[in-house]
Amino acid sequence: MSENGLKVLDKKHLSDSVCVIVGTRPGIIKMSPIIKELSWRQVPSFTLHTGQHYSYEMDKKFFEDLELPKPLYHLPQCKPGSLHGEQTANMLSGIESMLIKAKPRLVLVCGDANTNLAGALAARKLQIEVGHVESGLRSNDWRMPEEHNRVIIDHISEYLFAPTPRARQNLIDDNVKGKIYLTGNTIVDALIQHIEIAERKSEIIKKLALRESDYVLITIHREENVDHLNTLNDIVEALKLVGHELGIPMIFPVHPRTKNRLKIFNLWDRIMNIPGLRLIEPVGYLDFILLIKYASVIVTDSGGVQEESCILNVPCVTIRDNTERQETVQVGSNIIAGTNPEKILDAINISLEKQRNWPNPFGDGRAAERIVDILSGAPFVEWSFISEVRS
Ligand code: UD1
Ligand code: UDP
Repeated sequence: MSENGLKVLDKKHLSDSVCVIVGTRPGIIKMSPIIKELSWRQVPSFTLHTGQHYSYEMDKKFFEDLELPKPLYHLPQCKPGSLHGEQTANMLSGIESMLIKAKPRLVLVCGDANTNLAGALAARKLQIEVGHVESGLRSNDWRMPEEHNRVIIDHISEYLFAPTPRARQNLIDDNVKGKIYLTGNTIVDALIQHIEIAERKSEIIKKLALRESDYVLITIHREENVDHLNTLNDIVEALKLVGHELGIPMIFPVHPRTKNRLKIFNLWDRIMNIPGLRLIEPVGYLDFILLIKYASVIVTDSGGVQEESCILNVPCVTIRDNTERQETVQVGSNIIAGTNPEKILDAINISLEKQRNWPNPFGDGRAAERIVDILSGAPFVEWSFISEVRS
């Protein structure tokens, strides 16, 4: 209960602060340019961590690589294996208590993880304003927990920071209540800020004895892929087929969820024995963006990795039936291959022959600057992608 005994916070008693909510690997990365911009411009702000991701290599490693301050508030680690409702409810209740203490004027969430639904909902219920960074993405795949989350967050936010013209149009079509701003995606800011640092500091290419443009980089973690035996089995078969047919080294930093599932489904020994495939622990941001930059092709179901490969001009094969990052398909960086082994192999072969000269549809590296302009009442000039990619 708040101190006045009411269930909502009185606007008059809110502080000047902006609360930035993080909790998952992609959220930490995509919020990092905003956290830095707020600090640099001396806009009062603090970070709240929901505890959704907690392993060193999924969480703290990113605070180190991105040189971010420790969050001011940190909820207890989420229980491994919790259901969506339980996980979201625990974070919602924890965030609510923290917001009652801190009384920020606005809460910022980024993307579509349960962390962000919990953060947006906690703020909404207390009548604190909500800003949704990376709003307006739609896969139209209602099986995905991320799709429920992003739709709900978009409908309860005052500020909708759309990364692309397509995302803005999705928000208009959905008739959202909040105000829409076309800002670009902060992933471009993060990449621009770190790629040179990665070139200087990361030893990953040498450490893994890789040759530039001579390996496939793989990431897989989506619920609809790894939580279903038949689908995960198809993906393992696809990697085996690629190993046999192409004889190219494959590097696979394995998300903890995927590792659990491979073990539970008795696929671990099979995947470990695929020729040319190396399974490694998830790597930090500096190592990972370098692994993308020098790969011949990326095979992934990650949202962020589809964007980064597009921005770094590396072809991507997405092992899903759809994508909320249609811009990547339109500019020609990404093929949506599904999970059938032959289709994945065909898509990799096509990708290896691609001219890597598509434009970057995700922004100019100034998304965080625009978002902070809006939040601090400075004049806002929207991002314009000159050769706008039309659907
Ligand atoms: C979550 C997001 C997904 C996002 C992904 C980024 C939701 C619904 N899903 O999926 O949209 O793409 O994060 O990586 O919010 N685990 C660990 N250590 C960790 C984190 C997770 O061991 O630091 C294991 C636990 O067994 C946990 C499982 O992975 O139960 C799943 O984690 P969870 O955060 O629930 O979902 P993700 O698959 O990471
Ligand atoms: N990433 C990383 N190390 C890895 C795998 C991914 O640093 O071993 C980064 C990657 O650069 C991208 C982000 O994690 O910015 C994507 O996160 P993830 O795939 O977990 O989530 P999604 O984007 O699908 O929500």
